[in-house]
Amino acid sequence: MRTSPFPAELTAAVDPGKLPGIIFSGWQSPSNIAFIKYWGKRPLQLPLYPSLSMTLQEAFTQTLVEATLHDGNPSPIMINNDPAHPFLGKLAPFLDWFTVKIPVLNQYSFRITTRNSFPHSTGIASSASGMSAFALCLLTIASEAVSLQLPNEHLMPMASFAARMGSGSACRSLFGGYTVWGETDLIPRSNDLEAIGITHVVHPSLTSLHDAILVISRQPKRLSSSKGHETMNRHPFAEARIEQARDHLTGILQAMKEGNLERVGSIAEAEALSLHALVMSAAGGAVLLEPATLTVMNRIREARSLGLPVFFTLDAGPNVHLLYPEENKSQVQRFIENELAPYCTDGLWIDDLCGAGPGRIEEVTRSPEFSS
Ligand code: PMV
Repeated sequence: MRTSPFPAELTAAVDPGKLPGIIFSGWQSPSNIAFIKYWGKRPLQLPLYPSLSMTLQEAFTQTLVEATLHDGNPSPIMINNDPAHPFLGKLAPFLDWFTVKIPVLNQYSFRITTRNSFPHSTGIASSASGMSAFALCLLTIASEAVSLQLPNEHLMPMASFAARMGSGSACRSLFGGYTVWGETDLIPRSNDLEAIGITHVVHPSLTSLHDAILVISRQPKRLSSSKGHETMNRHPFAEARIEQARDHLTGILQAMKEGNLERVGSIAEAEALSLHALVMSAAGGAVLLEPATLTVMNRIREARSLGLPVFFTLDAGPNVHLLYPEENKSQVQRFIENELAPYCTDGLWIDDLCGAGPGRIEEVTRSPEFSS
């Protein structure tokens, strides 16, 4: 198996005397919502089966990294001027992994400025957007340090490979539209090490799909994803789950090719319910749904039986992602406001949609965050 996608220029030892003293990099990277859920993993963040997601547009992280050459004693990493920022718990081991793979990064101290476009604890995966943005910043810093040009078609798969080590689902955030992570005969070049974009095999009608995030609760997660993945190691239904996910993938890929929203939506719903059924039936499992989650899911199905094209999916939490097509926007938004918003915390729901993928934040050096 391939162990690293990084070119020799990035992995070679370097002479510190030849490195630039300071390098800036800034990237905006989106979150994503899975239609086929990644749940359970093998060592080194490898999936048990392929997952599929839609990249979001409005929910993103913007990260700016200032890398300063040090003289052998790196300064502590700072996030938003805080050397004890809570995100460091996940980010520091990720940076350690990076510096082993790409040793030139060892020569630098890092100051990170980061912000999310979305409120915290709303069921939007900030680890996906945060880890993918950070992976992009580090890779562009390393390539600039060694004067290597990395066009996006090379950079994104490498960043996907790297982001996977920060958070599995983050590897799917590097491409616009729709993405698959995990090896399957159905998609040429698909593999377990990085995600690949599949929008070219998706009907154009699905590239404007909306995802309205209905914020049922803003309580902290009852089950971390790492604990959740772990329960799959000895789950009584693991084998059946793997088979089901593979069947769902076959079905959803066909439906996405045809633009069959009804079928895409019903598979997304079945996936969400399976995820929660697995969580509930695991040893040491949990109930992550709230009463309002159930009411909202039932209301969505009722509305659908009356002709409104609305579908739901869920992450490992109580908040509901309502999927609907662009052409029904005003009708669906009225439905949400009138019938679903009353079940949301403070009436909060966030309208998002299928997005274009990451983008570089231009002129970082002139960003106010970096002016002294
Ligand atoms: O990337 P992680 O380890 O936080 O796992 C994410 C798991 C789910 O969000 C529940 C499903 C998915 O595929 O995104």
